Amino acid sequence: MVHKAVIPVAGLGTRLLPLTRALPKEMLPIGDKPVIEHTIRELVDSGIDEITIVTSPRKDLIQRHFAPDADLELQLRAAGKDDLADAVAELSSLAHITYLYQNGPYGNGTPVLNAARVIGDEPFMVLWADDVFVAEVPRAKQLKAAYEATGAPVLALMPMAVEDASRYGVPVVKEDLGGGRLLISGLVEKPSPEQAPSRYAAIGGYVVTPGVVEELQEQTRRWHENPKGEIYLTDALHRHAAGHPVYGQVIDGTWWDTGSPLNYLKAQFAAALAHPVFGPELRELARESG
Ligand code: G1P
Repeated sequence: MVHKAVIPVAGLGTRLLPLTRALPKEMLPIGDKPVIEHTIRELVDSGIDEITIVTSPRKDLIQRHFAPDADLELQLRAAGKDDLADAVAELSSLAHITYLYQNGPYGNGTPVLNAARVIGDEPFMVLWADDVFVAEVPRAKQLKAAYEATGAPVLALMPMAVEDASRYGVPVVKEDLGGGRLLISGLVEKPSPEQAPSRYAAIGGYVVTPGVVEELQEQTRRWHENPKGEIYLTDALHRHAAGHPVYGQVIDGTWWDTGSPLNYLKAQFAAALAHPVFGPELRELARESG
């Protein structure tokens, strides 16, 4: 079973500058919630509420968003605003969140390794916090089910246009097992369209096992011999796949990658139109504006 998840957020968010100069990209709203709250609710809805956020001192707003605030709650209740007080209380009791500062060589494998030291010898989920999924069964639950069926590392995949290959990790598919499950024999980070080994993108959701963590440790040991090296989860999964089964799970749902200016605005627009209360009026506005 997978009970724990890691969300690395220490990145600088350079693709969204200057918007992300002071505001962490994970705190940008999608609809009426910051991106990271969507990710945490997705995990909780999937039965995972032990969450490690690997962060940096510049991103303390994330901690503040989920922190308890007894004064605020008291003031809201005194003013008769119990709905708002309940919303603030709910946010701080949503999940058991632990924060760690990222420490180590550059690259997205380092926060995974930092968290693994605390989590210990068990599989855990890793989600980047710049994707939002709208799905009947949450993406994390689909990934968890794939791990439970295979007992091996799993990557969340979506079909992609081959022109987009250079933005993603692209899996080498060995066998299509049906039901969106693929046996993977490797993973190529950001290949050119000509070199893309498949038409699937790894979309920032993984179940990582102790074997993958060992690969990350090995990379880190070698990094000391080569201080220019970077530590990437993709490389660890690629090397693990050479000698062990690794699976891909094509996710059933809609994916909003919020990590670039255009995609962020698209996600924001779609979420506004789909808002359960304000959606109809906003759709009307969109129609009127042509
Ligand atoms: C990272 C991963 C890449 C993956 C992508 C998904 O890249 O390295 O394999 O496809 O996330 O969003 P980044 O977006 O950090 O450049």
